[in-house]
Amino acid sequence: MAARLQLEGVSLHFGGVTVLREVGFDVEPGQVFGLVGPNGAGKTSLFNCISGHYRPSGGSLRIDGVEVRGARPASMAGHGLARTFQHPALQLRETVLENVMLGAHARLPGGPLEWSLRLPRALRAERALRDEALALLEENGLGWAAHTRADELSHGLHKGVELCRALMMRPKLLLLDEPAAGLPHSEVEQLIETVRRLQRDADVTIVIVEHHMGLIAALTDRVVVLDHGAKLMEGTAAEAQSDPRVLEAYIGREEADDAA
Ligand SMILES: Nc1ncnc2c1ncn2[C@@H]1O[C@H](COP(=O)(O)OP(=O)(O)O)[C@@H](O)[C@H]1O
Ligand SMILES: [Mg+2]
Repeated sequence: MAARLQLEGVSLHFGGVTVLREVGFDVEPGQVFGLVGPNGAGKTSLFNCISGHYRPSGGSLRIDGVEVRGARPASMAGHGLARTFQHPALQLRETVLENVMLGAHARLPGGPLEWSLRLPRALRAERALRDEALALLEENGLGWAAHTRADELSHGLHKGVELCRALMMRPKLLLLDEPAAGLPHSEVEQLIETVRRLQRDADVTIVIVEHHMGLIAALTDRVVVLDHGAKLMEGTAAEAQSDPRVLEAYIGREEADDAA
């Protein structure tokens, strides 16, 4: 069986700057996979390459064996990919429910004309999506906020709404960029439960970028550590945590940050 996500020799350059150098790893179906490393290591850039927001300078990216390098972000839902962003960008003037329903645009039948004419099939589909979005919000403890405008919610809640929006695509591969950043401890626990539930019940393969090592240790089957755009090591979270090279990468970066 093909890996759910397979990266080979992925490189990314901006002008003369090398952001990623020949990164490769496989994520198997059903895994929760961790991508860790100090700030500036290239984690978000790698997600941007997978989701089509950046075009890698070289290498290959396959989802279930299908090459997706160079595909547009809008077409990635068709490959079963959904993601969240390090800095969530919701439609601030829309309600939480409307934001979550936007996640399902790729699943709507018919074209824009059918929608603007509000034909019965479109209306039925919209009602079904609304119910599904409400159910997702309920499952994730956000049902109470469904009719609240997004700009009235805290940053932590934006992350929850963004996750629900991504889940509306019914992804088989979900990329989460620092989902725990800025969350209080109780909400991190809830996030861990949510990811476990998705892995168990929804058969979603998940790649998580996170600095919260408790979360990484609790959830991941395997991790890759990036440093300066290159793969430093791959193994279990426990192996990464006890690897002197990983420690050094973090400490080296702290010293550089202190000097700056
Ligand atoms: N669009 C871009 N143009 C130029 N440099 C970029 C761009 N995106 C990311 N980088 C650079 O790539 C490096 C890695 O950034 P990033 O992927 O955000 O790291 P991480 O998510 O691991 O903190 C940084 O040095 C950053 O400045
Ligand atoms: Mg980042």
